[in-house]
Amino acid sequence: MSTLVNSKAWQALLKHYPSVKDQHMRQWFETDPRREQRFNVSAAGWYLDYSKNRITDETLELLLDLARQAGVESLRDRMFGGDKINHTEERAVLHTALRNFSGKPVMAGGQDVMPMVSAERRRLRDFSEAVRGGKWRGYGGQQITDIVNIGIGGSDLGPHMVCDALQPYAQRGLKTHFVSNVDGYHIHHILESCRPETTLFIISSKTFSTQETLNNARAARAWFLENGGPEGSIDKHFVAVTSNNKLAAEFGISPAAQFSMWDWVGGRYSLWSAIGLPIAISIGMDRFEELLRGAHAMDEHFRTAPLKSNMPVILALLGVWYNNFFGYESFAILPYIQQLELLPNYLQQTDMESNGKRIDREGREVDYETGPILWGGVGTNAQHAFFQLLHQGTKIIPSDFIIARQGHGPYSQQQRMLVANAVAQMETLMTGKTAAEARREMSALPAGRQEFLAPYKEFAGNKPSNALLTEKLTPETLGALIALYEHKVFVQGAVWNINSYDQWGVEYGKQVAQTVLQALESGTAGGPVSSSTRSLVERLK
Ligand code: F6P
Repeated sequence: MSTLVNSKAWQALLKHYPSVKDQHMRQWFETDPRREQRFNVSAAGWYLDYSKNRITDETLELLLDLARQAGVESLRDRMFGGDKINHTEERAVLHTALRNFSGKPVMAGGQDVMPMVSAERRRLRDFSEAVRGGKWRGYGGQQITDIVNIGIGGSDLGPHMVCDALQPYAQRGLKTHFVSNVDGYHIHHILESCRPETTLFIISSKTFSTQETLNNARAARAWFLENGGPEGSIDKHFVAVTSNNKLAAEFGISPAAQFSMWDWVGGRYSLWSAIGLPIAISIGMDRFEELLRGAHAMDEHFRTAPLKSNMPVILALLGVWYNNFFGYESFAILPYIQQLELLPNYLQQTDMESNGKRIDREGREVDYETGPILWGGVGTNAQHAFFQLLHQGTKIIPSDFIIARQGHGPYSQQQRMLVANAVAQMETLMTGKTAAEARREMSALPAGRQEFLAPYKEFAGNKPSNALLTEKLTPETLGALIALYEHKVFVQGAVWNINSYDQWGVEYGKQVAQTVLQALESGTAGGPVSSSTRSLVERLK
């Protein structure tokens, strides 16, 4: 048995679980109407109501004991302090330095990283202002109208999600596009609407060795040259964001057109760095800094608030409670804000690439569940797609409802309807509907019909959900929301004693893809593949 499962705090939760598992939240709210006032926390422009969870005051205390026992606070301080907590790659984890406005130094490997961070931020400002203001022009002297970001994973999802989310703040006449998939139709389709003389490509790749990105970048360069772009003007139309300046230069991007990031920024935590360049160009550097400030406010909350009123800690512990004690395997993110349509995809990488691990920090296989399956969709569309399963399916899927009081749309009635739907879904998930209530609703029907339909119309309820509320989705509140989930993932990784900052599984996938590509192109694989793969390759050749 692992040290974690054997531990005092874990065993106490196991012992406590039977006393909670069959209790219904509906009864708790009936006997304790003030429940919501105990289970809420505010931070950085967000209000979390977590009263609709299957917890008692004792559960919360026991979960907090688990966090203390796991050393969440000391690992957190080590992360902010620049220790190499990514021990398998021997790297510090310092995305928080990219949004550090405290004026204090942040040390990594004995060096204060803040001067480099500020210098790169100044370069981002100069460049984004030049593009937005028309000082940076295409080869024919025309203003840039289209930004095409080429990247994948963290070099795509973060800036893409944020650009969509902050679309109401985007500069008119300047479109941002995101090419990630190596499926040639992706880039082809986007380039169909662009003109070489007014298009700026950003090649975003921390390693500058990702197959998909490099192939798309080559396709973009070929398109540019074939459609009249002069060879000598590549520097006006192609810039790179990378920590591998050598490979970017070999690709043909001059040092002056390269923006830097560092090995202490993980790909999925990199939107705060120069990887955020499309965001800075789209909404302007001032707004980009508001996003960073919002994240910094959440960092400060996470760093300083006591565990019991610490929003990321609370969210993380609730997740552990369901994942490890109730055995609920998945988790849904349900933003009731149209611009956050990509948030579930983005958080899939944050969460599943970080905590999809089965070896603990000491190199032992774990005997408990780690990262959940994260998925979701935007409300109200999701209600008409998968909510049926949430309400009446056999699986229980805890969820986060993300709601802004004010929308960006001009129709206040629609905003009220949107918010009403979110609240109604949470209410129904929690209360359910008894057979007696179902029968009452059908009083106009014959008794036999009522009896027949009642089981179909009954809802068990008792389905957990969190409400995350903000006044309005702004750069600042969005920054805080993203940082909230980053820290939630951190806390869960700390409790499960895994390294949330490597991704060996994905790296290996990249390696095998090279072998198979070689087999497809030349007929002989560059490494061993199974007979199953050989026959697939034969069929596809
Ligand atoms: O998806 C795996 C991954 O390694 C991510 O962590 C990273 O964000 C992505 O590939 C892209 O890598 P790069 O920025 O080096 O091209």
